[in-house]
Amino acid sequence: MEVKNKIILALDVPTTRKAIEIMDNLSDNLNTVKIGYPLVLAEGLESVTRIKEEYGCRVICDFKVADIPATNEKIADATFKAGADALIVHGFVGEDSAASCLETATKHGGEIFLLTEMSHPGAAQFLQPVSMDIARMGVKMGIHNYVGPSTRLDRLKKIRNIIGEDSFLISPGVGVQGGDPQDTLEFANAIIVGRSIYLDNDPVNALNSIIDSIEL
Ligand code: XMP
Repeated sequence: MEVKNKIILALDVPTTRKAIEIMDNLSDNLNTVKIGYPLVLAEGLESVTRIKEEYGCRVICDFKVADIPATNEKIADATFKAGADALIVHGFVGEDSAASCLETATKHGGEIFLLTEMSHPGAAQFLQPVSMDIARMGVKMGIHNYVGPSTRLDRLKKIRNIIGEDSFLISPGVGVQGGDPQDTLEFANAIIVGRSIYLDNDPVNALNSIIDSIEL
């Protein structure tokens, strides 16, 4: 997976219209976006279909899927039918739940990203003690793509060591949450950035500044 400029834009905006307004200005420098609940709960999965059709970009749906296998299968099926290329899946629910998403993704020619440890402070409370085990589970399952935090680089490094150099690791938490783009890219293949770009008065300049600050 080649992510243009190593930046994935998190489109956590309230309307498809707003997402399109932002993408009209930024799409030349991006080929991958992440769409999550803020947009999909407001506008439906049509927002995924529309962004995909309009820009031909790769769409990662960040639904942090965490249910029983039978329900995970339905969530994944609907997501890929809408045109998503990849789906972010929680690992803490166990191998059978993650496997259900992986199998459904494969059926659709899509991929999953296994979420190991989250980027916010609360992740230290319950998730952190098991996050390396989640990464190990992913390796055992043959999962290629992972999500890890840019806000704790020591942990990101450990995740990278577990999943190996050939796996694909993306990292949220850059910017508003405190993560540094270049430092994160020492361990991650691409960074996820949302508010630092879409809330800026000049999103084009904000994106260009991040691109300028990283070694491509
Ligand atoms: P900001 O605005 O903080 O947006 O740049 C970050 C985006 O990433 C999501 N996020 C995560 N997604 N694991 C994930 O799968 C995480 O640990 C994580 N932390 C933040 C967040 O919802 C937003 O879309």
